[in-house]
Amino acid sequence: MFVCLCNGYTDSQIREAAAGCAGAVDCVYEHLGAAPRCRSCVEMAGEIIADYRRTTAAVPASLTACPGAPATRGSFARRG
Ligand code: FES
Repeated sequence: MFVCLCNGYTDSQIREAAAGCAGAVDCVYEHLGAAPRCRSCVEMAGEIIADYRRTTAAVPASLTACPGAPATRGSFARRG
């Protein structure tokens, strides 16, 4: 299912990127290659990431959030 229409990201892509990233939505999107634009998907993407992290093995401690991105696990941050 498409979650982010601006970037064409699906829920599967978001989960896959969340497995390789310890950060929130902006960090996960950065791993996919593009930052959120209109941000209308950020809440849903945050829920997908949080759900993924609740239901799968913990993100390895060696993974860190992207520089400048919030390092909050399982949550999302909205910008202005
Ligand atoms: S729908 Fe994701 S940034 Fe616009």
